[in-house]
Amino acid sequence: MFSRVMFSRVLRSAVSIAHSFCSSSQSNTKVAVLGASGGIGQPLSLLLKKSPLVSQLSLYDVVHTLGVAADLSHIETRAQVTGYVGPEQLPEALKGSEVVLIPAGVPRKPGMTRDDLFDINASIVATLADACARNCPDAMLAVITNPVNSTVPIVSDILKKHGVYNSKRVFGVTTLDIVRANSFVAELTGLDPAQVNVPVVGGHAGKTIIPLLSQCTPKVEFTEDTLAALTHRIQEAGTEVVKAKAGAGSATLSMAYAGARFALSLLDAMNGKEGVKECAFVRSEEGECTYFSTPLLLGTNGVKRNLGLGKLSAFEEKLVAEASKELKASIRKGEDFVRQRATEGEPQ
Ligand code: NAD
Ligand code: LMR
Repeated sequence: MFSRVMFSRVLRSAVSIAHSFCSSSQSNTKVAVLGASGGIGQPLSLLLKKSPLVSQLSLYDVVHTLGVAADLSHIETRAQVTGYVGPEQLPEALKGSEVVLIPAGVPRKPGMTRDDLFDINASIVATLADACARNCPDAMLAVITNPVNSTVPIVSDILKKHGVYNSKRVFGVTTLDIVRANSFVAELTGLDPAQVNVPVVGGHAGKTIIPLLSQCTPKVEFTEDTLAALTHRIQEAGTEVVKAKAGAGSATLSMAYAGARFALSLLDAMNGKEGVKECAFVRSEEGECTYFSTPLLLGTNGVKRNLGLGKLSAFEEKLVAEASKELKASIRKGEDFVRQRATEGEPQ
């Protein structure tokens, strides 16, 4: 017999799926994943393959994509999966894409900062942005590659050089910070994590990650010490994973979950669903930094409205002030990289 306990479990799991991946209708959208063979790329592609909102899944990497695509293509869902390997196949991978997710690039090892990845990842992201500008200029671009605080300005400035930049369509994916904040708050309070929502603003590195615990829903109260420790844990959660993986990379599975949550929210909004909100690192007028993550109302054309910072506590105001110097420097570093690249005659 289908007991009441089982029924309530099924109901709870349905609610929780609705909370994170609320896509139920179908749509015809081609989604590309660049860096699809990697630690994030593979599970992210798997989660996208499950969505009825994706009709074509285009998997690009410099290695192994044909195998990943063959493997995923056996899953009994509608998305047609195609693998593309190497730069000569990149244009074909991108043509017709409406959403492009970019987890291509190297991850941290213990002792490194995200900024230490700049020298390798800046070039990778610039080359991919250049190809997006040429082959899918209207696509929504969601950048996962670190350092996000610099790679988003790089992607934006490359698109500007091609005359196809639309600030409402370029996102730095910070969803993992929200996912972590929700989990850690639930751990401390005993709340159901699926019901917790903590906005996280700023950027995606150390003290630029600013959880707005005063705006958590449902409302939560912490002592000053717990608030400081929790904030620090959210800011350093990436490093917690890097240390635990001990040289084998950084967060991949939780990032795939977070990337899929962001992508599916975007797809929902692109398909006309009202009231879809996610935080992301975007071009912004909300503070003194030219790019800043805040809650966004998403719509058919990307960012419909920037919902801004809301009312901050004194503690949070201080965090925002402390983040701005580092954030501005990281943004400038990305912009300088694109300027420098242009003077060296790289294709723009
Ligand atoms: P990984 O090394 O497992 O995978 C990266 C993939 O990128 C590899 O398959 C590699 O072949 C591919 N790649 C390298 N150069 C490429 C190019 N020119 N074109 C296409 N693909 C290319 O790394 P990972 O663990 O998947 O992490 C990827 C990136 O995501 C890292 O920079 C990491 O720091 C970042 N990251 C960001 C967040 C976030 O919250 N935004 C979270 C976790 C990781
Ligand atoms: C994370 O927050 O897990 C990612 O940015 C990866 C990292 O290097 O910490």
